[in-house]
Amino acid sequence: MNLVLLGMPGVGKGTQAQKIAAHFLIPKISTGDMLRSAVAQKSELGIKASSYMTTGLLVPDELVISLILERISQPDCNQGYILDGFPRTVVQAQALEDALAKRGASLDWVISIEASEDLLVARLVNRRQCGVCQETYHLEFNPPLQPQKCDRCGGELIQREDDKESTIRSRFAVYQKQTFPLVNFYEKKNMLKRVNGNEAVEVVFAQLLEQLK
Ligand code: AP5
Repeated sequence: MNLVLLGMPGVGKGTQAQKIAAHFLIPKISTGDMLRSAVAQKSELGIKASSYMTTGLLVPDELVISLILERISQPDCNQGYILDGFPRTVVQAQALEDALAKRGASLDWVISIEASEDLLVARLVNRRQCGVCQETYHLEFNPPLQPQKCDRCGGELIQREDDKESTIRSRFAVYQKQTFPLVNFYEKKNMLKRVNGNEAVEVVFAQLLEQLK
């Protein structure tokens, strides 16, 4: 099963992708996580991507396309995968479609998670992420057992640099301009399913499973 999760920043793509990956035993592939670890390692990709990410802009298509095409050709993707944060532009979507077609493959479903902007700001400003294993928390809805410490690995919890309110608003604008056209792109191909992301995590996950039946 080859899946894509689409949706505004903070709508819960990463949270739901992790649950889907565990449920269907397929890898979760997040371009945001891959780029953040490249930035942390100060790799060539990380150095190129860093300034785009901190200001809420998209990293250039050619960098993320090669990153993702290499990742989905790994053996652990043979039984499928869930893409979180890719594609994000029509150019990326087309490149993915072409590369999959060359391998005789295609996407199965694209799920658009949808929620109101005000709710998303509250989710993002109170998000904390482990600096070591990237596990995500929310100070109110999913707090860690000990303040500032990851339950999973004990790493320090940090606030993402792009989770400041002014940058969040820029990310929303970038989504509307560059990523929202993908809803139409996949709808026309009869590949789009929609889920109400305003609900609690488990309720959203139940809707997702229902859509994937
Ligand atoms: P990326 O990391 O993909 O960020 P994003 O799309 O802005 O999405 P987020 O990670 O902010 O939110 P999410 O929807 O995953 O929400 P989450 O589950 O964490 O990208 C970051 C940057 O990298 C981009 O700006 C760009 O620069 C670059 N980039 C990445 N991919 C790229 C690409 N393809 N092309 C070009 N550039 C790219 O949830 C948010 C919070 O809410 C958490 O605290 C969570 O615990 C909580 N929460 C989740 N669901 C619920 C719920 N139902 N109820 C209550 N709380 C909830």
